[in-house]
Amino acid sequence: MPSALSDLKKFFSLPERGAYLNCAAHGPLSKPASEAVIRAVRDKENPTIMDQNYGNSRVERCRAAVSKLVNCHPDQVALANSTSWGVNVIARGFKWKSGDEVVAFEGQFPSNIAPWEPLKNRGVTLKKIGAPNYICDIDAFKKSLTSKTRIASLEWVHFVSGDRIPLEEITKICHERGIFVVVDVTQGLGAIPFSMKATGVDAVVCSSYKWLYSPYGSGFMALSTELMAQIDTTDINWLSLETNWTDNLCDYEVAFAANAKRFDVFAQMGYMNLDGMTASIEWINTIDIKRNFKNVLELTRQLREELSPKFFTPMNRGPAERQSCIATFYCPDVDGEKLISALQIEGYSTCIRSKGLRVAPSIYNDERQIAGFTKLVNSTVSK
Ligand SMILES: Cc1ncc(COP(=O)(O)O)c(C=O)c1O
Repeated sequence: MPSALSDLKKFFSLPERGAYLNCAAHGPLSKPASEAVIRAVRDKENPTIMDQNYGNSRVERCRAAVSKLVNCHPDQVALANSTSWGVNVIARGFKWKSGDEVVAFEGQFPSNIAPWEPLKNRGVTLKKIGAPNYICDIDAFKKSLTSKTRIASLEWVHFVSGDRIPLEEITKICHERGIFVVVDVTQGLGAIPFSMKATGVDAVVCSSYKWLYSPYGSGFMALSTELMAQIDTTDINWLSLETNWTDNLCDYEVAFAANAKRFDVFAQMGYMNLDGMTASIEWINTIDIKRNFKNVLELTRQLREELSPKFFTPMNRGPAERQSCIATFYCPDVDGEKLISALQIEGYSTCIRSKGLRVAPSIYNDERQIAGFTKLVNSTVSK
């Protein structure tokens, strides 16, 4: 098992020069993922090696890897191609009553907001709670809940501020009121320890191309049995039926799988993507996420210490338990585009979100890289 952060660099193909600090936008494909993708391409070039169980074994291996990562049973896991897919499945299939409400914070990423909007045609209201500076206020959240609230759709780590919401506390508040918690863990899963069992959330939706270092178009959803029972299957994929691969394939009998398989994305995202994600998650399951996150938090602390306070104000000033792998610095007086281009020339990748410099370090970064980055940023903005 790799132990030091520097050991983990070898699992990526990133250049030595500069630093990749933009994992919140695109995670680099891990070597285990790229090797698996290449193997799947070779298999497709020569399908003589494929047996009858080729696809199914891959799908179930992926489900097992995901269930280990998020700490749930494989039967709770459905394959997805994005966060949007998972949220849509829940939004469309949930057994709504007219007058029901969904709550979310204003400023969350569109994937976990937009799919609820069309429900207004079914008499369901999406209520948005104000979140100044993209920081979520738990008292405001509590006050927004009514007897009609059925679902809270939340973002674990905010894509702009990096605010990490207290999931256990939120779930407790919601469950006391009979409200389901749907959480988008795209920003953070893989980088920060997470357990579906410990947090008690009812749905985890995730896109894997960021902190899971997987191909684009790969992701998953995991559902609690209680929430699963409340979701009708709205789209039918023959591969998710009980009759699949049996003698009665052409009986056209529609018997849904009892587990989350009935919500699997169509075409199961393609084996090249699927195998890439499985390999990356299997590898992540062998590394010490807790220790790695501690190191990443140190890098974000270094950023806060070293970036010039004259130009950069941390958006997230919360306690350690609200910090994450994203550190964003409000910098309204800085020409963001110019800064990003100047950094890119020297091999440093990061981005601007909502007038803030968003820095997203990960397990392949180190202190020396952060020092080089902050020095270059400070000198560029001072010119
Ligand atoms: C919080 C969050 N969720 C989801 C996504 C991606 O959404 P999707 O997988 O639907 O494309 C992003 C992308 O930046 C994000 O920041």
